[in-house]
Amino acid sequence: MEQVTLHNGVEMPILGLGVYQVEDPAVCEQSVLAALSAGYRSIDTAAAYLNEEAVGRAIKKSGVPRGELFVTTKLWIQDAGYESAKRAFQRSLDRLGLDYLDLYLIHQPFNDYYGAWRAMEELYHEGRIRAIGVSNFYPDRLVDLIDHNEITPMVNQIEAHPFFQRTADQQLMQQRGVAMESWGSFAEGKNNLFSNETLCAIGERHHKSAAQVTLRWLVQRGIICIPKSVHQERIEANIDIFDFSLTDEEMAQIAAMDTGRSSFLSHYDPETVSWLGNVKYDI
Ligand SMILES: NC(=O)c1ccc[n+]([C@@H]2O[C@H](COP(=O)([O-])OP(=O)(O)OC[C@H]3O[C@@H](n4cnc5c(N)ncnc54)[C@H](OP(=O)(O)O)[C@@H]3O)[C@@H](O)[C@H]2O)c1
Repeated sequence: MEQVTLHNGVEMPILGLGVYQVEDPAVCEQSVLAALSAGYRSIDTAAAYLNEEAVGRAIKKSGVPRGELFVTTKLWIQDAGYESAKRAFQRSLDRLGLDYLDLYLIHQPFNDYYGAWRAMEELYHEGRIRAIGVSNFYPDRLVDLIDHNEITPMVNQIEAHPFFQRTADQQLMQQRGVAMESWGSFAEGKNNLFSNETLCAIGERHHKSAAQVTLRWLVQRGIICIPKSVHQERIEANIDIFDFSLTDEEMAQIAAMDTGRSSFLSHYDPETVSWLGNVKYDI
């Protein structure tokens, strides 16, 4: 597995499994176990996914040594703030059954994320988290956070897929030393991504699917991916992307698919900000 070296020297697998919208604990456990036996070593969960316990159980059952794993979880909006972030971190760790995290992310750029960041900086210095980062931070808030705090986020996990490619954002993150991680690498199948003509035609030449071409294209851009699937054969297929390369022409063909717009939501729309901020979990 290729690794991305974060700005503090920690190595993060370039591909992992995401478990958003995997609410059934048995299905979540099964998916994580399937991924670990297929060779995945990175798992991306969140307090808001309500499945940290299932992820923890699968990790334990797998028998994979903790030191080989890279576990990410995220702090939800309701727990932003210095004290509440510290408490939420400990609750996540307890649910996962772990004594340290590899990566802890601020899930959304809302509420008191400054307070949360200071708590995370401390936890990082205490060695309880190997890397700290953010998610869904557009360039303005990312630069603000970087410029007024001690630690630059090691990762920013953002929506990125063939229909929303984030090329300029990636450039800015590169300049600032922040690794880019894609969520929704398949746009959750929106716009018929899995049967897209361009992706399928490229796939045919390499004997790969549109899904595999999409992941390969992201990985070739140096972007960390965490595709989600609950099906063993898809989990196995999604990691089978390291035996081929896309040509410059193929990369350019996919680059032409960019719409420059989110396929999901706008973090600048006041109604969306208010709606997200009011999503509360018993966590
Ligand atoms: N930070 C954030 O705000 C944020 C937001 C969204 C997601 N995420 C993270 O990013 C991860 C990935 O994003 P996502 O789950 O939203 O969507 P995604 O990975 O773009 O797409 C997942 C969808 O694609 C299907 N799929 C997966 N592999 C496939 C294949 N090889 N062929 C055909 N269909 C396939 C899955 O179905 P099956 O499961 O039925 O196979 C599922 O419906 C999440 O799980 C989560 O960890 C983070």
